[in-house]
Amino acid sequence: MRKKVSIVGAGNVGATAAHWIASKELADVVLIDIVEGVPQGKGLDLLEAMPIEKRDSHVLGTNDYAHTANSDIVIITAGIPRKPGMSRDDLLNTNYKIMQDVVGKVVANSPNAILIVVSNPLDAMAQAAFRISKFNRERVIGMAGVLDSARFRTFIAEELKVSVENVTAFVLGGHGDTMVPLARYSTVAGIPITELMDKATLDRIVQRTRDGGAEIVKYLKTGSAYYAPSSAATEMAEAILKDKKKILPCAAYLQGEYGIKGLFVGVPCKLGARGLEQIIEIKLSNEEQAALKKSADAVQELVKVIGA
Ligand code: LAC
Repeated sequence: MRKKVSIVGAGNVGATAAHWIASKELADVVLIDIVEGVPQGKGLDLLEAMPIEKRDSHVLGTNDYAHTANSDIVIITAGIPRKPGMSRDDLLNTNYKIMQDVVGKVVANSPNAILIVVSNPLDAMAQAAFRISKFNRERVIGMAGVLDSARFRTFIAEELKVSVENVTAFVLGGHGDTMVPLARYSTVAGIPITELMDKATLDRIVQRTRDGGAEIVKYLKTGSAYYAPSSAATEMAEAILKDKKKILPCAAYLQGEYGIKGLFVGVPCKLGARGLEQIIEIKLSNEEQAALKKSADAVQELVKVIGA
C-alpha cells in the first residue's frame, strides 16, 4: 500500500513540501488548509504535473480533515510567517491558537501518525503539538536542525568552494537566535572545518547561519523562507517512510538527555519507521554545553508563556 503524508497549511512551506514529496514519489499527499480553494487549486496543479514527472504520487487538496484519515505522517506548517523585523518568537500566541485547533483534528483522524512540526516558533510549537496530541515522544518531531544545518553546510561549501555533498554539519539547540552551530562536528569529507578555515571566517559563517531565516525574510518582506524549510521536512519524512535510520538534527522532547528535561530542543536524532528511534548524545565541551543550555532556556521561556 502507498504511504500517505498529509500536510497542514497550503502556504509556501506546505505547498512546496507537497511538491518535493510528490516529485520524489515518497507518498500520496493530502494538502489541507482552512482557506477555501487554495489547497484544492495547488493540489490539482501538482497532480497534473505528475505525468510529466513520471510519478504516481496522488495529490489531493482539501479543507476537510476526513481526507487526511490514517496518514502515516502529518507535516504541520500551519501558522503565520514572519515579517521583516519580527522574530520567530513574535508568532507565539497566534500560532499556538492555530496549533490547538489543528492538532486536535489531525489526531482525531490519524491517531497513529507521526507528526513533523514546522510551524514557528519551532521548538515551542513542537512542544504544544506533543502536549495536545498526547502522543509519545517518538511520534512528535520538530523540523529545524536539518534546515539550520543545511544553511551552515551551504555557507561552508561556498566558502571553501567544495561540493555540498562533502559537507556535513550539525546545528543544535532551539531554532532561534541562540541556536548552536557545532563547528567541531562539522566536516568536509571527514576533515573538521576548524582545520580548513580561520576562526574569523568560521565565526562569520556561524553568525550568518544563526541569522539565516532573517536574511531571507529581509529579502522577501512579506514572508519567510520555504524552499529549504520544506526540503528539510521532506528529508525527515523520507527517513521515516523508508525506515532509513538516518541521523538528523531535529527538535525532540528531551527527558534528561544533554541535562535537559521536559523540553523540545534540537539534538541529533535517529529517524526510522517508528519516528524518533534514538537521541544520540555526543560529548560537548563546556562552552558548547553552556550554549545549548542558553538556547534551551530561551525555548523554556516561550513554553512557559503558552503553558505547554
Ligand atoms: C527560517 C524560518 C522559516 O528559518 O524559521 O527560515
